[in-house]
Amino acid sequence: MIRVVQGDITSYRGDAIVNAANPSLLGGGGVDGAIHRAAGPGLLRECETLGGCEVGQAKLTRGYELPARYVIHTVGPVWQGGQQREKSLLASCYIQSMQLAHEHGLKGIAFPNISCGVYGFPKAAACEIAYRVVNKVFDRIPVSIEEVVFYCFEDELYRLMKAQLAGADADGRTRAREDSR
Ligand code: AR6
Repeated sequence: MIRVVQGDITSYRGDAIVNAANPSLLGGGGVDGAIHRAAGPGLLRECETLGGCEVGQAKLTRGYELPARYVIHTVGPVWQGGQQREKSLLASCYIQSMQLAHEHGLKGIAFPNISCGVYGFPKAAACEIAYRVVNKVFDRIPVSIEEVVFYCFEDELYRLMKAQLAGADADGRTRAREDSR
């Protein structure tokens, strides 16, 4: 089951929240900063032991003072115009995060809009990738995961993700019409 909600991902009470981190895994602004603030200093101490993370990969820590039991830290691509494998790297973030959740037998996982803040990924394209990849994983691979929740902070991203869920693109055209062009 896939849901889209508007709000702060640190309030998610399921098994894991995904962090849109940077390669150092040592904290930052945006959702990364919010997660570290809510989790408390234990999270940074564990992150310091991980040796960073490559773009498109993911690593798991405990959730410390968060309601979620785990944090899955993934590093999205910085948008550089689209010729630097940004789309496949963003897809990889979602795949690797779900893979890690599955390996730990997790049932509920929440995603932010990875790379859609300071990393500058075009929002509509990012939402399409996020929704398509998560759906594909559900369809093709048996996973422990029963619930994926997209936490959208911004109005525009909330609207775009809801449109994905409704089977329509941002303009309200059906995806079937898009495909037939
Ligand atoms: N809950 C849910 N979504 C949030 C929250 C929140 N509490 N706070 C912000 N967002 P960004 P990126 C949204 O910039 O583009 C950090 O400094 C935000 O509105 O956090 O992947 C890292 O350390 C946006 O839609 O992540 C990296 O250096 C989305 O989360 C860098 O930013 C992602 O925005 C990563 O950049």
